[in-house]
Amino acid sequence: MKTLKPRTLELPTDRLVRHKLLIDGKWMPAQSGRKFKTLNPATEEMICEVAEAGEADIHAAASAARKAFETGPWPKMKARDRFKILKKISELILHNKERLATLETFDSGKPIESSRHIDIPAAAEAFEYYAGWIDKLSGETLPVDPAYFSYTLREPLGVIAAITPWNFPLLIAAQKIAPALAAGNTVILKPAEQTPLTALCLGQIAMDAGLPEGVLNIVPGFGPVAGAMLVRHPEVDGITFTGEYLTGQEIMKNAAPGLKRLHFELGGKSANIIFEDADLDQAADFACDGIFFNQGEVCCAGSRLFVDQKIKKTFSKLLLEKSKNWQPGDPMSTKTEMGAVVSREQLDKILRYIKLGEKEGAQLILDGRKQSKSKGYFVGPTIFESVSNTMKLAQEEIFGPVLSQISFADFDQVLQQANQTIYGLSAALFTRDIEKAHRAARLLKSGTVWINCYGTFHHGVPFGGYKMSGYGREGGLHTFDFYTQMKSVWLHLNS
Ligand code: NAI
Ligand code: MG
Repeated sequence: MKTLKPRTLELPTDRLVRHKLLIDGKWMPAQSGRKFKTLNPATEEMICEVAEAGEADIHAAASAARKAFETGPWPKMKARDRFKILKKISELILHNKERLATLETFDSGKPIESSRHIDIPAAAEAFEYYAGWIDKLSGETLPVDPAYFSYTLREPLGVIAAITPWNFPLLIAAQKIAPALAAGNTVILKPAEQTPLTALCLGQIAMDAGLPEGVLNIVPGFGPVAGAMLVRHPEVDGITFTGEYLTGQEIMKNAAPGLKRLHFELGGKSANIIFEDADLDQAADFACDGIFFNQGEVCCAGSRLFVDQKIKKTFSKLLLEKSKNWQPGDPMSTKTEMGAVVSREQLDKILRYIKLGEKEGAQLILDGRKQSKSKGYFVGPTIFESVSNTMKLAQEEIFGPVLSQISFADFDQVLQQANQTIYGLSAALFTRDIEKAHRAARLLKSGTVWINCYGTFHHGVPFGGYKMSGYGREGGLHTFDFYTQMKSVWLHLNS
């Protein structure tokens, strides 16, 4: 076991970095006075304490968001003025990119180069992209009986609760807040308890950009307390959630009495299919990227790798070779491709699944446990061979760098097995045969299919799940199906 000495964080002491709750445009401690610690998973050291929202704070945040929605300037603001504020938020995120990236890496354990070049710029792009929709969201005039004139109005839904996970803390928050605000809603964000820091910065940035008070409220705290209260709160009209499907079920139950609108993105066990006619070198690069990027803590990670049995040996060799590029190391080093996993719980969960895989009879050809370190939550790339699709290893979401290789005999068999999962978030396939590629794309029961690539994203492309991976789509115009209401207006024309 090597000892790692991640650099220490010098927290910027300026006004951007906040530790309190943002309610009605003011930073305030929790009414109970409670705080919780947020840790650096690479060192297991505390970064700082953050105010912990309880019942009274959730109530205050919900009242502020309601007041801002009903009587504040935001929902009625001219599209152009709303656009300028969202655009300014985007610019301020980029202006503070380095500090936000450092905070994100310290809070989550992800490599600094990912924070710098993916998380933070993509969060800024979300605000820029959705700002562009503000003056393009429109209703329709409808060809009804000529004695009437009928048209639709697209209105904001109201108060949105956004509940976010720890794997892409700022980015996922931005993917929810930006379209919510673009449509004229007000928002209460509850970031994951493991990674609250960049969300709090975003609160300050939004205020600096001129967002009116109460339009964005940020309430760090724990899921079963702050999260559950938010879901139940009568002033909340809709909940957008990314996380575990069991949490989704809990949210659904708590939202049922209020019949609240829900948007869920609930993870997966995505199939990545390598046909024998693929460019194998390229496919192996993407296969590693698909499962090892962000320590495997990715909802659409390509955790089930289906490999044509004719190329099984060659492909395993390629994978082992390319896995060497994914050594876990100091997240603050620019050379690090894989950082620490987010928490002790998450590391334990990953280690439990590696043990389980061995017990189930899969063959461990690369053991990431050898890459653990005396301090910090580290585990390296892990590859199992001879996995059967029915094993728990192949069916349950691990959310770590653990790849299950399953070999297949033919097209029909692999398509059937790829769909044999409770999830349906994404899938990928590698082949040079375009007819086969598109046939497979139609048959795969998942919200996204990548052909000869893995994990490409754009804010304009819908992303979301089939089956227990959730419902609703984030990305492009379809995002607004959740964030807006459609009103139909009829006028009688006296002739
Ligand atoms: P989680 O689903 O419990 O947490 C996600 C968010 O939901 C956090 O903000 C949490 O505070 C909140 N939350 C938890 N319970 C809640 C409740 N009853 N009501 C309202 N909000 C609640 O995920 P967790 O426990 O952090 O991770 C466990 C597993 O979930 C991971 O190992 C992974 O398999 C999966 N996961 C999937 C993600 C995805 O992107 N789809 C993201 C994070 C985790
Ligand atoms: Mg949980």
